[in-house]
Amino acid sequence: IRLHCAGSKEINNWLPLQQDWSTRWSTLSAGYAGSFASHIDELETRDDDVFLVTYPKCGTTWMQELAWLLLNQLDFERASSVCISERSVYLEQSANSKKLPMNSIQSCDQMTSPRLIKTHLPAQLLPRQVWQQKRKIIYVTRNPKDVVVSSYHFHVGLGHWAGDFDAYVNEFINNKIVYSSYWTHFVDFWRMRHEPNIFFVTYEQMKSDLQNVIEKLSEFLGVHSLSAQEMQQLMNHLTFDNMKQSKCTNLTGFFKKIKNATDNFEFMRRGIVGAFNDELSENQKQKLDKCTSEILSEYNLKESDIF
Ligand code: A3P
Repeated sequence: IRLHCAGSKEINNWLPLQQDWSTRWSTLSAGYAGSFASHIDELETRDDDVFLVTYPKCGTTWMQELAWLLLNQLDFERASSVCISERSVYLEQSANSKKLPMNSIQSCDQMTSPRLIKTHLPAQLLPRQVWQQKRKIIYVTRNPKDVVVSSYHFHVGLGHWAGDFDAYVNEFINNKIVYSSYWTHFVDFWRMRHEPNIFFVTYEQMKSDLQNVIEKLSEFLGVHSLSAQEMQQLMNHLTFDNMKQSKCTNLTGFFKKIKNATDNFEFMRRGIVGAFNDELSENQKQKLDKCTSEILSEYNLKESDIF
């Protein structure tokens, strides 16, 4: 399925596209009940909702922690005692078991405002009110070569993938992994990056100048600008090492309990830019670069313009 079809001027033209969203949804997420998908589409949004949208492994949790803290007056105490997945619900988490007693729609309903709602759904599958009411969206993306490396280790660790790395790269390129195409997911939001309700940022920007990202994000979210001391505290809280040490942000334990992850599974693995340099073969890099340049060349762009 080719999803990239929206740009800033066409934003309203999306809504008709959502008419066949359930077909798209079921292609993307086989195993989810159709009725659950309808609930997502029909989610009642609130004026002060913020949606955090990412393709998996692009730095979701890092941004989730940052945005949650900004929206909650830097409540470090709560951030260090309540798991991020409880503070900020994962929209398409459908599990309805003893381990996760509520589905995410119920959890969203019970969240106090302002809600930070995390989702990996592509643009067309977001709840329709997100577009109708122009809710705030934070979109984080990351170099696809690092995404595929991170994603491979994640799925191997969860026991979802037993094949070799080369085969996984091919699945990623052929949009066969969960959430389908990285590139269409990304390019939709790239084209909307100047919309006033969209905050578009890359993992690489967060790595190279987190303070600048925090300043811009505070403005986007309409929260007061931070004092030098608050900024320092926040930056410190968000370091890879600190987030890795905290059970509230490093979901390794959560995945081991809920998803039966393998013993050596690590939710936060390297946390660097350019892991692909020493983990992908030349051939794998070339194949991924070809996909990226094919889609970016439609917009006269190259990878280095973005990541
Ligand atoms: P690696 O697998 O490359 O280590 P997501 O939250 O979307 O699943 O993204 C996970 C990736 O973000 C992992 O990348 C993880 O290590 C990285 N990450 C999480 N918190 C981070 C932080 N504070 N600083 C840098 N990277 C972070």
